[in-house]
Amino acid sequence: MNDLILRAARGEEVERVPVWLMRQAGRILPEYRAVRAKAKGFIDFVKTPEMAAEVTIQPVDILGVDAAIIFSDILVIPEAMGLPYQMIESKGPWFEKTVQIEKDIDDLHVADGNELQYVLDAIKIAKKDLNNRVPLIGFCGAPWTLFAYMIEGSGSKTFSKAKKFLYTHPALAHKLLEKITLSSINYLKAQVAAGADMLQIFDSWAGVLGKEQYNEFSLKYISMICDAVHGLVPVTVFAKDAHFAVMDIAKTKCNTIGLDWTMSPHACRAIVGKDKTLQGNADPCMLYADESVIEAEAKKMIQAFGKQRYIANLGHGLYPDTDFKKVKFFVDCIKGL
Ligand code: CP3
Repeated sequence: MNDLILRAARGEEVERVPVWLMRQAGRILPEYRAVRAKAKGFIDFVKTPEMAAEVTIQPVDILGVDAAIIFSDILVIPEAMGLPYQMIESKGPWFEKTVQIEKDIDDLHVADGNELQYVLDAIKIAKKDLNNRVPLIGFCGAPWTLFAYMIEGSGSKTFSKAKKFLYTHPALAHKLLEKITLSSINYLKAQVAAGADMLQIFDSWAGVLGKEQYNEFSLKYISMICDAVHGLVPVTVFAKDAHFAVMDIAKTKCNTIGLDWTMSPHACRAIVGKDKTLQGNADPCMLYADESVIEAEAKKMIQAFGKQRYIANLGHGLYPDTDFKKVKFFVDCIKGL
């Protein structure tokens, strides 16, 4: 088994830098689009374990990455709690009902993992089909990021409705964040029981909060999740645009901290110390450049991070219009260094 990524996460010695890419499962691969075309829509796709498992493995076969990530979405948790969503073509997620008052929170239930049997089944099939070639990453959204969608009902530039809720109803905000956190812990534990070898928590909207609010309304809950799954499998925390939080994230029981491309590898290593692995952080837009630029950037990135306690990745997910041949070239560059 290629367990480079697990060893890197645990701080063990590796013979080369492991690489995978956020949002590698889907969008850029013609093979993904072919499977996607057979589904009624995104949610039907996510809920069909055989299809989800198939596209989970595609990037391992086609791009040669050192890990697979289960094909699903962070929004399966709000749905399991009682807040269904739709994925609107070329627009993104949309919730018909949102959380506005205390009753809306009381109406939601703590997910126990059983509601998400379809993800667990997809993990089991993917594990079997991967046959130990590379580890499988399970994931969830950070409670704050899920909270933001549940209040806003869709994506937003500012997430001002969600932030307004923090300022105007802090106690209710904590009530909802706690329910999301307990659901996420149950869900991650179920993913590990189904076969996930590693976990990542995506805090995509970390960067809209200031440091104090981040600690109170986001990191507190991420930390609870890390405590709850500590010792099961390695955990990565990726908080996009949260420079101010790197030092405090390093105090949680995570193994790996994901960085976006605006964060300096040297500065973050100095802040974090030697006991955590770093992951990241190429700009996904760099993959639009010529191969000579991609190669030079891959080299620079590895020089900056060093080869140990490091997992090569992008600083955020792949964009859908990226040429998969360039993505493969980037992966090959890293594997060749
Ligand atoms: O990383 C992977 O390849 C695994 C699968 C995965 C998806 N979503 C599939 C997906 C993962 C890890 C996610 C996480 C996710 N989903 C996040 C956190 C990471 C990040 O990008 O910040 C967020 C914020 C979401 C919510 C979400 N899902 C949005 C905003 C959208 C629409 C815009 C977009 O990115 O396409 C989605 C849809 C989605 N999730 C697609 C895929 C492959 C595109 C759907 C399609 O096939 O058309």
